[in-house]
Amino acid sequence: MLKTVVCVSGGGTNLQAVLDAIDSGRITNTQIAAVIGNNPGARALERAEKHGIPGIVISPGSYPDREAFNAAFTEKMCELAPDLIVLAGFLVRIPEEMVAKFAGRIVNIHPSLIPSFCGVGYYGLKVHEKVLERGVKITGATVHFVNEGMDEGPIIAQKAVEVREDDTPETLQRRVMEQAEWILLPQVIDDIANNRLTIENGRVRRKEEA
Ligand code: GRF
Repeated sequence: MLKTVVCVSGGGTNLQAVLDAIDSGRITNTQIAAVIGNNPGARALERAEKHGIPGIVISPGSYPDREAFNAAFTEKMCELAPDLIVLAGFLVRIPEEMVAKFAGRIVNIHPSLIPSFCGVGYYGLKVHEKVLERGVKITGATVHFVNEGMDEGPIIAQKAVEVREDDTPETLQRRVMEQAEWILLPQVIDDIANNRLTIENGRVRRKEEA
C-alpha cells in the first residue's frame, strides 16, 4: 500500500478525483493517510473528512516566521512518514528540507503544459488568464516530480486541452480540470503505486505493460 498524504489549499476537486478513483478501483494499492491544508476554510478539508480521512491544518500565518513554519510542516510530514506526497492545488512552497527528505516522492499537478505558463506567479486562475492573453490555442495540465525549483522537476505526464475563442479564465480552468487534471493525477498515482515509473537521466519513463 502506497501511504499517501495529499496537500491542498482550496476547492479540492483534484483530491476528490483521487478519492473517487480509489473508490472505483482506478487507483489501486493506495491509502490516503491524511490531507494537509494551509487554510482552515479549504473545502478540500471537508471533502477529506467526509471520506473519513484526517484533515490537518498547518498555516504559515500561525508561525512567527517562514523558517518556523517550514520546520513545523516538515516535522509533521516526517511524523506521517508517507511514501508519496501529492500537491493537489497546494499554494505553499514546499520547504527545501522537505524536498530533500522526500526526494522523488513528491508530485504536483500544474494546470498548463510545462514549461509554458509555470513558475513564480503562475497559479490558480492566473495561469488561464495568461494563456488567454497570449492567445495560445492549446493548453493542458502537467504532473511532475517536485524538486527545489518552481514547477521544474521531472515531468511525469501531460495532457493537452483545446483553448476556445469564447473561453474565459473560468471556463478554461474548468475544461483543463475535467479533460486533463482529474484524469492525469489519478493515473500517475496509480502508476507510482504499481511501480510503473522509472527515472533515467532526469527523464521519467512509463514501463511497458508486461
Ligand atoms: C488546480 O487547477 C490545480 O492544478 C492548481 O490549482 C487548482 C486546484 O483546484 N494548482 P482544486 O483545489 O483541486 O479544486
